Amino acid sequence: MAEPNELPLVTPPGQNGASAHPRESVTPRESERRYAQIIGWGYAIPEKVITNHDLEQIVDTTDEWIRSRTGIEERRVAADPKETTATLAIDAARRALEVADVHPSKLDLIICSSSSPEYIFPSTASVVQDAIGAENAGAFDLSAACSGFVYALSMARGHILAGDAEYVLVLGAETLSRIVDWTDRNTCVLFGDGAGAVLIAASPVPGGILACELGSDGSGAELLMVPAGGSAMPASLETVSSGNHFIKMDGKAVFRFAVRVMADATRAVLDKAGLDIDSLDLVIPHQANIRIVQNSVLKQLRIPEEKVFINLQKYGNTSTASIPIALCEAIEAGKVKPGNNLVFVGFGGGLTWAACAVHWSVPTDRPTTDWWKSTRRQAGYQAAAARSMWRRAVRWVYQVWPDDPEGKPIPDGEPVKEPVKEPEIQQNGVLRRDE
Ligand code: UT7
Repeated sequence: MAEPNELPLVTPPGQNGASAHPRESVTPRESERRYAQIIGWGYAIPEKVITNHDLEQIVDTTDEWIRSRTGIEERRVAADPKETTATLAIDAARRALEVADVHPSKLDLIICSSSSPEYIFPSTASVVQDAIGAENAGAFDLSAACSGFVYALSMARGHILAGDAEYVLVLGAETLSRIVDWTDRNTCVLFGDGAGAVLIAASPVPGGILACELGSDGSGAELLMVPAGGSAMPASLETVSSGNHFIKMDGKAVFRFAVRVMADATRAVLDKAGLDIDSLDLVIPHQANIRIVQNSVLKQLRIPEEKVFINLQKYGNTSTASIPIALCEAIEAGKVKPGNNLVFVGFGGGLTWAACAVHWSVPTDRPTTDWWKSTRRQAGYQAAAARSMWRRAVRWVYQVWPDDPEGKPIPDGEPVKEPVKEPEIQQNGVLRRDE
């Protein structure tokens, strides 16, 4: 089977008179390849900081234990009830679009990875779609726990290489503080809240997301899970009183698994991308525990410390948001430059693991804030909010309206006519409509 990037390709946006948006026109051309480039990035974190010393007041722990066993010093928590997974994701999404200077109407797809989504359904991605006014975008959530962001990058790349999308917004967003048991010292010291976003675009420039490696082992499902609230254990007074809506984890088992798969997945993705460890410029691992990174990426792969980006001391484990937040901070710190080879590698509940290799191809200096553009962007978001309210109002009117809003009013007592069904006949074993 042909490698994805050997597939017949489509004229890249803006070339040969073709439109940058697929709904207008894109001309297939065999000679040009498509690449999935990261062109925008942004993150959002709650203001409230909870330090290890604060946790000493809540559970039987010490700053020394948390630092030495995990590397974490503090984490952010969405203390304001109005701050949710979606609001963090929306902020991160807006920043990513701003960096890329892409209008939300250009988005074809929004993928949001989360283990603490806004609702079981609808998807957090749909909430983001509405808030940013991405009127042409499909939207869905992806569940792969802490590996989710890398899974979502893989989905985005697939859509772009297949020619199904020109712009895909990928989000990793969590408010784990809402599903953490604040009386369980085994878990509450580890997790934090935050969101990160990247905008992936189809491009003729070689590079971008080169390869992805995804894996799972469902036999380890119960090692890291939220047991209640799904179909296996629906919400009830009992599930709430027994604390089954909180994260449960066998830390030691997850630790052992993580050390193994982080190294294996990194090797596998480098192999797929045709890169070797020496050609790597930066590894951005899932920010769960500094000891996991030391035992896998540093010791097993012998990647030097300066090539591994760590910010878990500030945010704790933000699950699927940890890699995109770390990417944004690595960019801010000047550690990502055009021409660099990066690997993102994560692991988590499922059990799952995922890695992706990226050849960074776009400048990383943020555009200077342009007053006019920023005002226009804000106006666009106000318009999106107004449009959403208008649609809700129209739906409300249809709900309270006494007549069928789609057709003619049905007078009381008149029987509703069923539409006449065309008969279907079988011919040569195939059902078809009789025309
Ligand atoms: O995104 C994926 C999410 N999950 C992970 O990344 C988890 C991976 N696992 C880990 O990071 C580590 O296993 C932990 C940080 C969770 C725990 O570290 P550990 O070195 O494996 O500690 P442990 O579970 O073996 O516990 C050692 C001791 C125990 O006491 P005893 O039995 O030796 O008396 C625990 O009860 O430390 C105790 N302990 C604590 N003590 C103070 C556990 N949590 C705490 C705590 N403060 N917060």
